Formats: sequence, C-alpha cells, structure tokens
Amino acid sequence: MATTTHDFTGRTVIVTGAGRGIGLALARYFHAAGAVVWLVGRDAEAIKQAAHDLDGARIARADVTRSPDVERVVLDVVADTGRVDVLINNAGVLRDRVLWKLTDEDWETVQAVHLGGTFRFMRACVPHFRAQGRGRVVNVTSYAGLHGNVGQAAYAAAKAGVIGLTKTAAKELVRFGTTVNAISPVAETRMITSLSERAGDQLRSLIPAGRFAPPEDICAAAGFLASDEAHYVTGVVLPVDGGMSI
Ligand SMILES: NC(=O)c1ccc[n+]([C@@H]2O[C@H](COP(=O)([O-])OP(=O)(O)OC[C@H]3O[C@@H](n4cnc5c(N)ncnc54)[C@H](O)[C@@H]3O)[C@@H](O)[C@H]2O)c1
Repeated sequence: MATTTHDFTGRTVIVTGAGRGIGLALARYFHAAGAVVWLVGRDAEAIKQAAHDLDGARIARADVTRSPDVERVVLDVVADTGRVDVLINNAGVLRDRVLWKLTDEDWETVQAVHLGGTFRFMRACVPHFRAQGRGRVVNVTSYAGLHGNVGQAAYAAAKAGVIGLTKTAAKELVRFGTTVNAISPVAETRMITSLSERAGDQLRSLIPAGRFAPPEDICAAAGFLASDEAHYVTGVVLPVDGGMSI
C-alpha cells in the first residue's frame, strides 16, 4: 500500500491515464489516502486491471482527446459522489522525432492528448469547482516543456502549453477556492523503458540523482498540491525529477 501524508477521506479524485505508470501510482496513492478514485483511460481492459485490487475505485473508459468522453466522465463522477475534488491530468503519449520529420498526425495527436486533454478535463470540472467553492488541479508537464529536448518538439510544445494553461487557470480559478498547479516528473515507466538504451542513458546522465525514480516517488508532490493544506499554493510547476531541471 502507498504511504500517504495527507488525508483525502470523502474526496473524489479523477486520474487520467491511470492504466499504468505514473497515473496508476497516483491512483493507488489517492486510494490509500482515503479518496474515491476514478481511474480514467483509453484502454478499458488496462484500467479494469489497474483497479482490480483498489476497493471502491471507479473506472471510466475515455479518450481525453474527445470532448464527449470527457464530459460524460465528469457527469458520471458527479452523479456518483456528488462532487469532484481533485483532477489529475496525467494521460500522455510520445511521438518523438526531430522537428523536420514530424508528421501533421504526430503533431496533432500529441497536442490533442497533452494540451487538449488537460484543457477538456479542466473545462468540464470548473462548474463543479465553482459550485463547491473548492477544487484542486494537478497537471503533469515535463522537463521538455520547461527546457526543450531534442527529438521532442511536439511533446515540448504541448507540455509548455500545459504550463501556460496551468498558470492562466490558476489566475482565473483562485477566486473559486481552486488551485491549479503542475508537476514535472521523471520516473521509470514505459515512457522511459521504450527509449533506446542510448537515449535512456543520455537522459539518466542529466539527472543529478543518477537514477530514474519509481513512479510511486512522484506521488507525494501531487498529494501535497492536491491537499487542503496547499490552498495558498497555485500556478507553480514543481519538478519531481532528482534535480534534472536545476
Ligand atoms: N515517465 C517520465 O519520466 C515522464 C517525464 C515527464 C513527464 N511525464 C508525463 O507523465 C505522464 C504519465 O506518463 P508515464 O510515464 O506514466 O507514461 P505511460 O505511457 O506509462 O502512461 C501514459 C498513460 O496515458 C494513457 N493515455 C494515452 N493517451 C490517452 C488518451 N488519448 N486518453 C486517455 N488516456 C490516454 C495511456 O494509455 C497510459 O495509461 C504523461 O503526461 C507524461 O508526459 C512522464
């Protein structure tokens, strides 16, 4: 069971891309902290598997690039527990190629998932945050969005977009008791293990800590930003990356 610092009893938490990797670790973390967790993902079987030992967790199949899917999930969540307290926009894909080899499809897919999915879920949750006078959003951005990265023009643009969206939403929503923050993680998930050995080694060499963390190590930062106690923290990008972005 995940170790947690904050109590999320009575809270409803949505985690997108929860079928594996960081999203699954986050779903486990918030479940262990007492929340009703909604695991959202594109692959119905993967999220069913992911939730099988999380008593009381809910699952929802949704593609974050599709507004009707996103709106349906948020309606289902609110119909179920009457509220949505925490939204974690984590779903992600990679289409890594140097700029001049990126296809329109690569570009559009990456923007639609990372930036579009984050926007769609936030837009769908805001009316509920306003009605509750409270909400927490944690968006997952990346080193590439902060600093750029060779071979990741589409991804870096989308993740930089997530930062702009986070900061603007933080300014717009603070008056509704809602904070909007981002984390910039580095963790050993399929996103990392799918890299070539050379690319993986290169990436690791940029991390002062000298290693990739397991996805569980990302959760405490998200838990803090999603907590009641962090109500005065908004619009920040918190790197959880072993010092990579120093
Ligand atoms: N792993 C890292 O080191 C790292 C570094 C920086 C940022 N990130 C970010 O962290 C997040 C999680 O990444 P991860 O490493 O766990 O990767 P992962 O590939 O293991 O997980 C991504 C999840 O998103 C889901 N997903 C993809 N497209 C979707 C869609 N259209 N609708 C719904 N779900 C969709 C996938 O099915 C998968 O479950 C991503 O946003 C990624 O960009 C990861």
